[in-house]
Amino acid sequence: MAGLKIRKLAGALGAEISGVDLAKDLSDQTIAAIREAFVTHQVIFFRDQALSPERQLAFGRRFGPLNIHPYVTGMDAHPEVMEIVKEPEDKVNFGGGWHSDMSFLENPSIGSILYAVDLPSFGGDTLFASQAAAYDALSPGLKATLETLNAVHSAGREYSSQGHSAQSRKTMKVVEAEGAVGEFVHPVVKVHPETGRKALYVNPAFTMRIEGWSRRESKALLDFLFEHSRYEAFTCRFSWTPGSVAFWDNRSVWHFALNDYPGERRHMRRVTVDAWPSEVATTSAARVSEPAE
Ligand code: SIN
Repeated sequence: MAGLKIRKLAGALGAEISGVDLAKDLSDQTIAAIREAFVTHQVIFFRDQALSPERQLAFGRRFGPLNIHPYVTGMDAHPEVMEIVKEPEDKVNFGGGWHSDMSFLENPSIGSILYAVDLPSFGGDTLFASQAAAYDALSPGLKATLETLNAVHSAGREYSSQGHSAQSRKTMKVVEAEGAVGEFVHPVVKVHPETGRKALYVNPAFTMRIEGWSRRESKALLDFLFEHSRYEAFTCRFSWTPGSVAFWDNRSVWHFALNDYPGERRHMRRVTVDAWPSEVATTSAARVSEPAE
């Protein structure tokens, strides 16, 4: 396939791809092969790339329009490029809990492309968990019940002044989202628009409750799903080297940036890919949620 070599990394998800220079203007055939690998393996990795912010933007735009994060300030010249930086004196990292990027939006992103600029001398790996594998492992009875449910998502908890993402960091600028965010409703089980595979679509960072359930009832179900969905057999782990790129599918994957490199610096750049407008029209089922009781 377009000269790409694809090596699967783990049973549930993840593949490393070699034989391609992402900084080049790639043919439509190569982009189609990368997209096929991305939706099939759910997260794909490339090593030894040299991506300027401009080339990362150009690569990302081949997959869809790029998102400008509503709460994290991007690069001055390129607001779509988010610099994810933890300085040696920072205590809290960005993305240090299981989540799916942008599920708090009406039209969540389809994928994120993360490039390693500067890495600590140890640690700083990223974990990924397949929510398609997590769905597959449930009983037919629970699957059928979950398919009737919707969940309410919001950025408020994560990006409020008390939130994990908003806690002070020397370099990154996170805008507080207090009161500025809506709640959007997404199905608890989503059918992948490209593969037809079903996946759980709730996550500990941004899912607030099950629509129409009390907070206590929601908590019991969500606690079970959050515990189930991070089972080791559904995961893979990526150890970064400078120039590595990860491209994950937010429709079916959670990720978790480990914060195990105290006193060291880690610098990544992310672009986040939205669905093409034609896909949004046919696949979006989001609604603004009713107020919680
Ligand atoms: C993120 O949540 O996008 C950050 C992941 C990472 O820094 O490994």
